[in-house]
Amino acid sequence: MKPPLAQGMRFVYLLLNLASLCFPIPLWKDRDSLMQEEKAHQTGGNLVLSRQEQQLSTKLVNLKKQEVATAIATGQFPPSMHFFRAKGLIEQSTVFSILKRMPKGAVLHLHDYAILSVDWLVYNATYLPNCYICFTRMGTVRFRFSKPHPPHPLPAQCSQWVLLETYRKQLHNMTEFDSSLLRNLTLVTDAPELTYPSQTLIWKRFEEVFLIASGLICYAPVFKAYFYQGLLELYEDNVQYVEIRAILPPVYELDGTLHNKSWSVATYRDVTKQFVKEHPDFIGAKIIFTAHRMLNVSQIEEAIVTAMALRHHFPDTLAGFDLVGDEDEGHSLWDLKDALTLPYSLGVNLPYFFHAGETDWQGTSVDNNVLDALLLNTSRIGHGLALIKHPVAKSLSLKRDIPVEVCPISNQVLLLVADLRSHPAADLMAEGHPIVISPDDPPIFGAKGVSYDFYEVFMAIGGMNADLRTLKQLALNSIKYSAMLPDEKAKAKEVWQKKWDQFVVDLSDSFSREL
Ligand SMILES: *[C@@H]1O[C@H](CO)[C@@H](O)[C@H](O)[C@H]1NC(C)=O
Ligand SMILES: *[C@@H]1O[C@H](CO)[C@@H](O)[C@H](O)[C@H]1NC(C)=O
Ligand SMILES: *[C@@H]1O[C@H](CO)[C@@H](O)[C@H](O)[C@H]1NC(C)=O
Ligand SMILES: *[C@@H]1O[C@H](CO)[C@@H](O)[C@H](O)[C@H]1NC(C)=O
Ligand SMILES: *[C@@H]1O[C@H](CO)[C@@H](O)[C@H](O)[C@H]1NC(C)=O
Ligand SMILES: *[C@@H]1O[C@H](CO)[C@@H](O)[C@H](O)[C@H]1NC(C)=O
Ligand SMILES: [Zn+2]
Repeated sequence: MKPPLAQGMRFVYLLLNLASLCFPIPLWKDRDSLMQEEKAHQTGGNLVLSRQEQQLSTKLVNLKKQEVATAIATGQFPPSMHFFRAKGLIEQSTVFSILKRMPKGAVLHLHDYAILSVDWLVYNATYLPNCYICFTRMGTVRFRFSKPHPPHPLPAQCSQWVLLETYRKQLHNMTEFDSSLLRNLTLVTDAPELTYPSQTLIWKRFEEVFLIASGLICYAPVFKAYFYQGLLELYEDNVQYVEIRAILPPVYELDGTLHNKSWSVATYRDVTKQFVKEHPDFIGAKIIFTAHRMLNVSQIEEAIVTAMALRHHFPDTLAGFDLVGDEDEGHSLWDLKDALTLPYSLGVNLPYFFHAGETDWQGTSVDNNVLDALLLNTSRIGHGLALIKHPVAKSLSLKRDIPVEVCPISNQVLLLVADLRSHPAADLMAEGHPIVISPDDPPIFGAKGVSYDFYEVFMAIGGMNADLRTLKQLALNSIKYSAMLPDEKAKAKEVWQKKWDQFVVDLSDSFSREL
């Protein structure tokens, strides 16, 4: 005999079963339509793929799922690890090898001294004749090309200048010395958490890297070669066009002659022209002139005046203006508004491409930069990590179709977000907010081109839902939101589309060969 309670339970259970048989539809239907709706929102959600693209997309997502399953089993998911440790794992990923082959369109956020792998600077630039080195008290170095011997004064707190060729001759282990120079030129270390305990400290070292590199890169022959090789490295990473944030410091000759900013812009233009001539399937490059945000208002005003003049003389090359440097140090856009509204009051069009919201400090004056950047009619928002904390700024940027330049590896290395699954852009991607993917300063982080950043976005920030549509949309966005003119964009789109179609065919072939 069964106890009455159990019998009652069985009765209820029976009723539940019957209920799910009689009314199965509303719940499933609602769930399906809600999920469809969410899917349609995400980056690329409205793209319609060809049949071949769809098949490829499924395969790519399956590959991702396999790699994630392996990561869960081993406990090592690269986007959750610091990039310095993740890099080797990423390079073993099949997904990564596919992203490298993918035509990615434009790279829109990249800095002048951080375009090309530092290997070239050490193994090629420092081996050129007349290269001098001095050693700072902080355990770093400075470079200077000169003939005769570099004049005084020496850089602050540096030893005497030594001719590098002479110095190298008396070394016991040149390999070791050259790798110390490589270390000087990047932030890469085995123990980033110990080496860089705070944002302030890592920013200090970060700016030091730029100072070290500038002695090499600002030497006129190196300046040209560096840019050319940098374009080549991007081209080889399947990038078709680039916009460079450039501070345009004086470039020098062996005898100490200095060139001005017009010379630098003209050189960027001419090197690009030469590169495009030799690589007709590369579209080109534009320059965004930048000033350091820690300058005072009158200095920034001066930079704005220069920017307007440069844009007037080089309308096809000089795209606009931006400010660089650690936002958390202060000098918010609002503090600088008197300088930044100058073009507007003069009736001159100077497009802005502001770094804004590269901070974790909510509610500070610099945290408002995302709103102020929009107020100042910025064309894009660099980083914009703070955007999701500002609903009004966010809806304004959506309404005006102002994209965020997402630079995941930079954000992780500079200690703004540790696990890239939690990057704020996950929110932006889920709702299809306009974004583009950029590498910021790849060589300084030990990366190359933009493929590593695409990997982080595809594997983690976009989550398991990111598919080929997501990637295609990101590439299309990069062209759409560039500073190219309409006819340049049309050409870029055409070049990119041809490469994309080829990529889809080639990849489908290689998948079917494997099966
Ligand atoms: C850089 O130097 C290496 C080693 O000396 C050489 O093989 C390579 O061709 C050089 N690259 C360029 C771009 O000059
Ligand atoms: C920079 O190079 C110098 C000279 O070889 C070396 O002593 C120093 O350790 C290097 N600095 C870093 C941060 O690696
Ligand atoms: C030079 O130093 C490197 C490590 O930086 C080491 O691997 C190599 O064996 C050394 N070579 C000689 C000849 O001592
Ligand atoms: C640079 O110098 C040239 C003359 O050599 C001059 O025409 C040009 O205006 C200068 N540019 C700037 C930005 O000062
Ligand atoms: C801005 O800085 C420059 C150079 O350091 C200085 O000459 C100038 O007086 C400063 N202007 C203001 C308004 O502080
Ligand atoms: C920004 O653009 C809007 C619309 O074109 C214009 O009304 C406003 O005055 C501009 N503001 C600035 C600071 O350029
Ligand atoms: Zn930047």
